[in-house]
Amino acid sequence: MTTAPIRPAAAPPSVGTARTRVEGRDKVTGAARYAAEIPFTGLAHGWLVLSTVARGRIRAVDADPVLGMPGVLAVLHHGNAPRLTTDYVGLLGIPDPTAAVFQHDRIPHAGWPVALVVAETPEQAREAADTLAVHYDEEPHDIAFAAGRPDAYPADGHMPAVTEKGDVEARLAASAVVVDAEYTTPEEHHNPMEPHAATARWDGGRLEVVDSNQGTTWVQSELANLFALDPSAVRVRSEHVGGGFGSKGIRAHQVAAAMAASVLRRPVRVVLTRRQMFSLAGHRSPTVQRVRLGADADGRLRALEHRALSRTSTVYEFVEPSAGPARVMYDADAHRTANELVRLDVPSPTWMRAPGEAPGSFALESALDELAEKCGLDPIELRLRNEPERGPVSGLPFAGRNLAACFREGARRFGWAERDPRPGVRRDGRWLLGTGTAAASFPAGAGPSTAALTAEPDGTFTVRIAAADIGTGARTALTLVAADALETVPERVRVHIGDSAFGPAWIAGGSMGTRSWSWAVTQAARELRERLALTGEIPPEGITVRSDTTEAIGALAQKERHSFGAQFAEVAVDVTTGEVRVRRMLGIFAAGRIVNPLTARNQLIGGMTWGISMALHEEAVRDRATGGPYGADLAGYHVAAHADVPRIEADWVEDGDPEDPVGIKGVGEVGIVGAAAAVANAVWHATGVRHRHLPIRPDRVLAAGAPRA
Ligand code: MOS
Repeated sequence: MTTAPIRPAAAPPSVGTARTRVEGRDKVTGAARYAAEIPFTGLAHGWLVLSTVARGRIRAVDADPVLGMPGVLAVLHHGNAPRLTTDYVGLLGIPDPTAAVFQHDRIPHAGWPVALVVAETPEQAREAADTLAVHYDEEPHDIAFAAGRPDAYPADGHMPAVTEKGDVEARLAASAVVVDAEYTTPEEHHNPMEPHAATARWDGGRLEVVDSNQGTTWVQSELANLFALDPSAVRVRSEHVGGGFGSKGIRAHQVAAAMAASVLRRPVRVVLTRRQMFSLAGHRSPTVQRVRLGADADGRLRALEHRALSRTSTVYEFVEPSAGPARVMYDADAHRTANELVRLDVPSPTWMRAPGEAPGSFALESALDELAEKCGLDPIELRLRNEPERGPVSGLPFAGRNLAACFREGARRFGWAERDPRPGVRRDGRWLLGTGTAAASFPAGAGPSTAALTAEPDGTFTVRIAAADIGTGARTALTLVAADALETVPERVRVHIGDSAFGPAWIAGGSMGTRSWSWAVTQAARELRERLALTGEIPPEGITVRSDTTEAIGALAQKERHSFGAQFAEVAVDVTTGEVRVRRMLGIFAAGRIVNPLTARNQLIGGMTWGISMALHEEAVRDRATGGPYGADLAGYHVAAHADVPRIEADWVEDGDPEDPVGIKGVGEVGIVGAAAAVANAVWHATGVRHRHLPIRPDRVLAAGAPRA
């Protein structure tokens, strides 16, 4: 037995030092097992059958022929599946029956789960699922998303639908310079490398699920709701997750697996295929956004209006709140923002990296660039002239708004001072060259979490928290945070995550994971150190301290808390082929305390890469005839590949809030914000043509014609 070790006097703090992932070796050697790889005795395999029609009723499921096929154990559908409680409310307090499968005969969209075929092997299940005949009474469907639909309505989602102050019309009429433009973004899909996968097993009245998700206690509580269980009767584990981006919450596969496991009384695994993910994983709604800006001749905003229309299913009211960023970024005497929604026969959209901010910043930051052009002002100068003192809508002070510092540092490193503002005048052979910039912001929130820290008798520490590492490096970040908080070295800290048995914790979402979990770990560490100071010896079972940050988070002063960033892009455009290449990108961010520079940079570059993808490649197209997606795979749905991302750098400036006990703001999402606008603004600078519709496809560049300088 020993007393608690402390960090060697000379050892520097761990937070702020670049560390490779603590589980990195396990991942690259294959020792780390993902949800679909974890062995279970007596495992059966379920395969989801998705509807081929976009609206109507299921008339019959012809299960008998399939039940005679080799290895087939069961066919679950609305006629025989266990009943669920569907009147519960989801994460936002809005009923979300998206994952409540097999409860009725209604088909709300193409790709709705209509049956689960379970067999001894995945191959048998798949073959039987392909054979299963489902008969429908088809009804006409409507997937026509466009501005001006009479059935569009203001909808809240996770923020109020409408904010309004002053008289926008009057201020616009009195403005020396006006921008009034419509921008659109297409339906986009998260495509994490690891498909969604879950295995469910019942033990008496207890449900155990091995899953790939962004929050084990989140999925635990949703499953408890659906199956009318006490949360303590549900355990969800999710040790390694190959990407989530907002798509890995409660979905059809976990629910279907739990149902089948209860019927068959053996473990059942359901894995989504890449193709099924296009219907079942959620997606980002397309948007139509109108931005109207009125300014004095010197660029000072007098009127700002941002109205954003998005689309959801008939199942669940999800809002892509693209008008949100305008509530934080820019003030004006008259200021109006609105998120509107139309409900169509499509799958339920969901959170997808920077929901609202990603498409919203494309429209808003493009409009700012158009205003700079009209005012004859440098786009950075325009933004600096419009830096608000307080939250434009909330009136609250900012807890650190270091946007100007990002622009200054970015401009210096990017070489912005040498930029000739005229569009369409730079050539490199067949290429027209241009540079563009845009601002980024993302909320820095925190969610209540609990953690347990144990001082072990051998001088090491064990941290248990139901955090999720979805590829971000969260496990490593928490190791560094815990090491500093315990005044020890990372080598003496073991962090266990991804298990709902560890107690409630915030999800890996909203860029709030590391901030929320670090708070809980730090709080527990403080108490543990106090306990150790009073304890001579550590007993064999160790000394364990638990924390709960609910109170501390509630006591935090109300402020506008955000990370910020300045995005820069250089593009080359060949107007005779329509090809756009990004030559380099630089993002400078103010994101609070950076825990691990290596993985933080990785997150930011990942977000920026997605911004390139959003600007130039990503577009899901729905077939008006079937209502389903065209090319629901990574051949049909284009994403940026290595060759599309030649030189990309992310860095940060000093940022922090002395009042904040954690100081971390989160880097998961801010990297994508503004990135597409920076690319689009660079395309304008190269060609003199504004592209207000994403992606900037070759045919759109061709149709726009030669430079108009
Ligand atoms: Mo993110 S869209 O909050 O997982």
